[in-house]
Amino acid sequence: MRDARLAEYINEKAALITDHLLKSLDTPDIPEALRQSMSYSLQAGGKRLRPVLVLATLEAFDKPADAAVPIACAIEMIHTYSLIHDDLPAMDNDDFRRGKPTNHKVYGEAMAILAGDALLTYAFEVICRAENLGVPASRLLRIISELASCAGAKGMVGGQAADMEAENKQLSLAELQYIHQHKTADLLVFCARAGAILAGASERQLASLTRYANNIGLAFQIKDDILDVIGDEEKIGKPVGSDAERSKSTYPALLGLEESTAILHTLIEDAGEALREAQLPSDSLLHSLAAFIIQRDH
Ligand code: IPE
Ligand code: IPE
Ligand code: MG
Ligand code: MG
Ligand code: MG
Repeated sequence: MRDARLAEYINEKAALITDHLLKSLDTPDIPEALRQSMSYSLQAGGKRLRPVLVLATLEAFDKPADAAVPIACAIEMIHTYSLIHDDLPAMDNDDFRRGKPTNHKVYGEAMAILAGDALLTYAFEVICRAENLGVPASRLLRIISELASCAGAKGMVGGQAADMEAENKQLSLAELQYIHQHKTADLLVFCARAGAILAGASERQLASLTRYANNIGLAFQIKDDILDVIGDEEKIGKPVGSDAERSKSTYPALLGLEESTAILHTLIEDAGEALREAQLPSDSLLHSLAAFIIQRDH
């Protein structure tokens, strides 16, 4: 069953974030070809799950979401850059993303690499704008520092490097978990922690929310792997079977669909428990968001 309130929340926030992302590119200082390539992927119809997680976490503390918009935009820019690079011939070599030709198919490899580079660096410029919205500099500095580690060599890029090295290899479950943790869960952990830091959460609440986001992050990538096997290409907007074609290390490849699905459910249950432990005043959207990870078909 889909949660109507969550669906409405995602729609509303996705529109808000898209609007801000496009406005941030509306400047004559960016060379036109680069601007177009950045803009193409930013408005290609991503689910905006990461921005939603930042905003929903802040709102779970009964705080207004406005001050978090630059942070939400920054993480979406970094996520989008990671996808542009992930699709390149040297990496997953995919031709479709979000139902459209991949960035390098339209703008060429050089411009796709540069659009990714530009989105990554622009994210740090954009996130600093939160200070103008009254975010205390000490909180913002902590958030920016966490963003750099989650996205970088110790985080998402490290996970992607391990993912590339694992092609055509049989991994242990622990090795596969390392890859999924870093290439995907780390950015989601950042989102929940950024919302919580902004809200002035206690260290105990931060620890519980980190556990929540780790669980949903790992579950998110397992579901992505499952959809790569049994998903509907029209709905997921990217090719089905891409992982098998490149002999990728995935949960279904290692454990089969049934056991992967069982793990998915366990992770979502544990996410719910971690959330209850955090004792937030308004946590229902975050509970729905965890359930959405299992139910999603794209
Ligand atoms: C795809 O992420 C890449 C993974 C980390 C699995 P999403 O499924 O969130 O992609 P978009 O942004 O909605 O296209
Ligand atoms: C990519 O994982 C995770 C990123 C950090 C980009 P995948 O390679 O499975 O993502 P998709 O299936 O191409 O979206
Ligand atoms: Mg990949
Ligand atoms: Mg890929
Ligand atoms: Mg995938």
